[in-house]
Amino acid sequence: MLEDKVKAVITAMDFDEKCMLITGATSLETSAIEKYDIPQINMSDGPHGIRRLIFPNMPERSQKINIKGGDTCFPTASAVGSSWNKSLAYQLGAALAKDCKEENIQVILAPGVNMKRTPHCGRNFEYFSEDPYLSGMMGAGFINGVQSEGVGTSLKHFAANNQEIQRGSINAEIDERSLREYYLRPFEYALENADPVSVMCAYNKLNGIWCSENRYLLTEILRDTWHYKGMVISDWGAVHDISKCIYAGLDYEMPHNPQIKELLSEALKAGTLTMEQIDNAAASVLKFIYTVSEMSRTQPKEAYSRDNQHNIAREIASETITLLRNDNNILPIDKTKCKKIAVLGRHAVDVMFMGGGSSKVTVGSENVDIPLDEIKKKIPEAQIDYFPLFQDGFRDVNVVDTVSNLDDDYEYILFFAGDNYCGDSETEDYDRDNLYLPNYMNSAISLASEKKKNVVLILQTGAAVLPRRWEKVPAILQMWYSGEAAGSALADILFGDVNPSGKLSETFMNIDRTDLDYPGDGKKVCYNEKWNSGYRYYDKHADQIWFPFGHGLSYTAFEYSDISIPEPHRCRDNFTLTLSCKIKNIGDRSGKEVVQLYIAPQDNITDRPLKELKRFEKIALEPGEGKEVFFDLNERDFAYYNTCLHSWHTERGHYDIMIGSSSRDIRLVSRIFVDNEKDYTILPKNAPMLA
Ligand code: BGC
Repeated sequence: MLEDKVKAVITAMDFDEKCMLITGATSLETSAIEKYDIPQINMSDGPHGIRRLIFPNMPERSQKINIKGGDTCFPTASAVGSSWNKSLAYQLGAALAKDCKEENIQVILAPGVNMKRTPHCGRNFEYFSEDPYLSGMMGAGFINGVQSEGVGTSLKHFAANNQEIQRGSINAEIDERSLREYYLRPFEYALENADPVSVMCAYNKLNGIWCSENRYLLTEILRDTWHYKGMVISDWGAVHDISKCIYAGLDYEMPHNPQIKELLSEALKAGTLTMEQIDNAAASVLKFIYTVSEMSRTQPKEAYSRDNQHNIAREIASETITLLRNDNNILPIDKTKCKKIAVLGRHAVDVMFMGGGSSKVTVGSENVDIPLDEIKKKIPEAQIDYFPLFQDGFRDVNVVDTVSNLDDDYEYILFFAGDNYCGDSETEDYDRDNLYLPNYMNSAISLASEKKKNVVLILQTGAAVLPRRWEKVPAILQMWYSGEAAGSALADILFGDVNPSGKLSETFMNIDRTDLDYPGDGKKVCYNEKWNSGYRYYDKHADQIWFPFGHGLSYTAFEYSDISIPEPHRCRDNFTLTLSCKIKNIGDRSGKEVVQLYIAPQDNITDRPLKELKRFEKIALEPGEGKEVFFDLNERDFAYYNTCLHSWHTERGHYDIMIGSSSRDIRLVSRIFVDNEKDYTILPKNAPMLA
């Protein structure tokens, strides 16, 4: 038994050896201890590909790095979240694990499932969604995929690391209910559906206590309530006092702490820590090392192929690109007819395909598909003219002239725009102070849309942007940071070789929120808005929405019908419920639809979101094809977190089950009555049953 083996080794170890286990050997490796045959485990960022780092005392593997070729750069999490495809997240994880194996990396420091409290957070591109369920389920898919190939994961950043400004000092003040229902919930969903070998704590404080020292988070919630059995690792440099961290439930400090022995022996002498607590931390690290090294024996299911990795990156990217607007169905471009296209904006060549910070992938430039080249490949006979307009982040002096004087016979104007090149506006450690694209870009977009028809705006950002004078632009594609295959995936969508099926994983608003306490007063940031972020807020402020959560167009259309809920529409304690609906592709192209199920309480006396996403399914349909989609729900899906009971509680009453194509495009509604014997709060027991 693994536990027995761990126990025997820890019992045999002296204090110094235990300390060696509790911190890294270097920045990304655990200590190998030959005497006990304990292997070294190599880690790497994460989450969209491998970040190769070279440190002077790193082992040979890192010295041999040959940057040419590099590792696969996959779409970032915000993009993957917009695929709403759990199997795709799994596929991404499995492919990423293959790169890890090639690089002798046993643990990838990913995924991140933090909520997007504000679109300003510089790391939103690294997170899946503003919704806990979507985020947690995509995170679980990713973890299961990576671990299926024998590589470990680290679910991060636990918890409430929702801004990068002062992330290493800020205190996030969050009430218990918002924590449990919103900020901790994606982690809980991920852990209910996957078993990552480690969880990484966040840098910030939560309710006055560093996350790394937060016993409520690391022990009461993670271990005692959620029964997590893996290792808890610090974010890099998040430890302030290792003895307090171990007391709280942290097992492993990264990077290497040269003072660990002195610090832990002082704590032992002072009686603030017991040897048993040190043993527990060391045992958890050892269990992690054994588990990961056992997992790493998993043989690859097929030989490694860099081309295959690229194709997977392309397939994933093409499911994430989101068609926001398509007036008069100007897209897709008909390859057989189109003769002349103008491509505007340097992002068509200097493509933004990843964000900055620790998630930056070491990818060889020869593996990056350039949009302009890929467009040309699609219609080699056509005339494609490229006008960069902006150089090195600044507008070309002739932008107005260039745009105004474009030939009249261009059938399409493909306008590429996005963040400044190379991840310096969406990156770790910084927030975005401005959610608009640069003014010079907005003016050029606006000018193009006034002068020309068939303008397609292609946005390369990792997170929501604010529109400025884009009303007349007939088609808008959100490309996200879609990884090394960005260009080919985009061309597939533009020319209809792939039917777009991305749906926004975060709300695109038309005005920035001013009601949030953000970024705080330098010491603390108070989440007074509670869980009202994303569509939970915008459902009550619909006038501030540009494109809603869950929105994304297709080149075909889907018809929803026949919502069916088993009789009687009355549920009792601990119930489960299976319901179904029918979806039909009523257009003339095959396509994929994301069927979204929301629950909306009707009789609540507690303050609750108007509705919450509880299930989704992505289905592929040929023209004319119909399918029945089934959803299983249970009592917990109807519950809120009650702070008097300190547990989840379901109010007796009516609930609308809403099924739709976006959070604001609900196609089917059916009402059920939930009868909870334990609910002392509201309706009389004989409340009417509804048909
Ligand atoms: C980031 C983590 C990352 C770690 C190791 C930290 O700065 O917050 O997400 O895994 O560095 O590179």
